[in-house]
Amino acid sequence: MSEREFMPPPVGELRHRLDAPLLRRAFGQFATGVAIIGARAADGSLVGMTVNSFASVSIDPPLVMYCPAKGLSAYAVYAGARYFSASVLAVEQQSLSERFARKGEQKWADVAYTIGKTGVPLLDEAIVCFECEAEASHDAGDHGIVVGRVLALRVAGAGEPLIFHRSRYCRLAQAATDTDAPAAALAWGL
Ligand SMILES: Cc1cc2nc3c(=O)[nH]c(=O)nc-3n(C[C@H](O)[C@H](O)[C@H](O)COP(=O)(O)O)c2cc1C
Repeated sequence: MSEREFMPPPVGELRHRLDAPLLRRAFGQFATGVAIIGARAADGSLVGMTVNSFASVSIDPPLVMYCPAKGLSAYAVYAGARYFSASVLAVEQQSLSERFARKGEQKWADVAYTIGKTGVPLLDEAIVCFECEAEASHDAGDHGIVVGRVLALRVAGAGEPLIFHRSRYCRLAQAATDTDAPAAALAWGL
């Protein structure tokens, strides 16, 4: 996409006429991490895709979510799978994000992963991996919303996360370490 397309809308102007390019630009202002969702189809094959819609939802019970697009080749698998994994990428893993964002099968071939107890793939070297059981799958426009209960997780350590912002990969100017304790995080009990 062109540079021009991702120019933010004029500052201060409240827009009521919404279209897809404007929404993409606006949504792209929200910087996110990047995760790989993994699941197993009924025939046993593995599916996987890059998402930036992964989010934490609840601590008690432990819930996370992500949004699969209805246009995905394996949408039915993501929307109906009993188990799925989410592996949060480190900045060194951008090529995996690119790989898992391409259409096609066999995305897990030649990728280093381990299989969790529920049969879903957990990426090696990811900053954190979550193994989840789907609790609910909601319809939401051109996407679905899959909510999952975290059954197990593996934290790799203090890796620097890959960031997605305005349709580009970037890195944090200053990555937080576990020993940083910003006031906001303390106030929220995080
Ligand atoms: C940074 C990034 C974030 C993405 N986030 C999502 C997402 O949240 N949901 C989604 O359905 N697709 C998302 N995609 C696109 C999918 O990864 C892509 O459409 C999918 O892997 C295509 O393969 P498939 O249709 O063969 O499964 C994202 C792509 C990138 C590069």
